[in-house]
Amino acid sequence: MIGFIGTGNMASAMIGGIIKSGLYPPSQIIVSDASENALNRLAENHPGIVKAKNNIETTQRATMLILSVKPHIYEPVLREIREEISQETLIITIAAGVTIKKVEELLQRPLKVIRTMPNTPALVGMAMTALCPNKKVTEEELQQVKELFSSFGKAELLPESQINAFTSLCGSSPAWIFMAIEALADGAVLQGIPRDKAYPMVAQAVAGSAKMVLDSGEHPAVLKDRVCSPGGTTIEAVAQLEKDGLRASLIEAVRVCTAKADRLSGD
Ligand SMILES: NC(=O)c1ccc[n+]([C@@H]2O[C@H](COP(=O)([O-])OP(=O)(O)OC[C@H]3O[C@@H](n4cnc5c(N)ncnc54)[C@H](OP(=O)(O)O)[C@@H]3O)[C@@H](O)[C@H]2O)c1
Repeated sequence: MIGFIGTGNMASAMIGGIIKSGLYPPSQIIVSDASENALNRLAENHPGIVKAKNNIETTQRATMLILSVKPHIYEPVLREIREEISQETLIITIAAGVTIKKVEELLQRPLKVIRTMPNTPALVGMAMTALCPNKKVTEEELQQVKELFSSFGKAELLPESQINAFTSLCGSSPAWIFMAIEALADGAVLQGIPRDKAYPMVAQAVAGSAKMVLDSGEHPAVLKDRVCSPGGTTIEAVAQLEKDGLRASLIEAVRVCTAKADRLSGD
């Protein structure tokens, strides 16, 4: 069974994706939460899901146990459940800034831990998740977890030393893209396009561009060059964006975001 301790935003997004993909039916997912309301809301949204009495029951019945509580709740939850975790259970963390070492220390014995970092597009089946296993996890178990996270997006292995950069690149970048969509729509409104039409139009252009990068495998610069005809309108704006430092701003955004994550996780 897949267990979730904590049934807030991220767990709901992941559970929604897993059930929708058909990888596991609701009857194979067991959940517990300190908040009765959050638990009931999730159970109403996913009929057939198993509501545990408490975190201990979730721990005892889950073979893959996802700790989907806020980072500062990891310590009390791990202290509460650690005696109940079997040697075979895969403990999956999703908390920003909580290292494998910290989890291993709290567990007080060698157990299988996989640190992961999903992002909120999990809500629409388009997550990008990084996975870092500890030494106790076998290749087969890792593939099983990769398959689970692939049910609501894409999942890739990454060394733990790069997880803060990944958190910046994929966890935080949706906020920057939303800012870009909002700003482009403002530009459209300035040119007389109604706002209610502008947002879906821009979002579709962004989604289509991202899909071209994913599907074609071409270098983004090649795709950009194809849109820029000589002396045309697009290259006029490209020159302006270069002058205004668009690329340097985005590179700096990833750098400062990673540096902040490093400071928060004590790296
Ligand atoms: N949201 C994101 O973009 C994102 C992306 C990647 C990773 N994450 C990670 O996902 C984790 C969860 O984030 P979230 O946004 O889903 O949080 P959330 O919406 O606050 O959900 C956490 C849930 O856990 C409950 N809870 C608190 N203490 C508990 C306990 N001792 N036992 C069982 N349940 C308990 C909370 O109840 P109360 O409300 O009553 O406290 C709440 O319902 C975090 O570690 C975060 O770093 C989030």
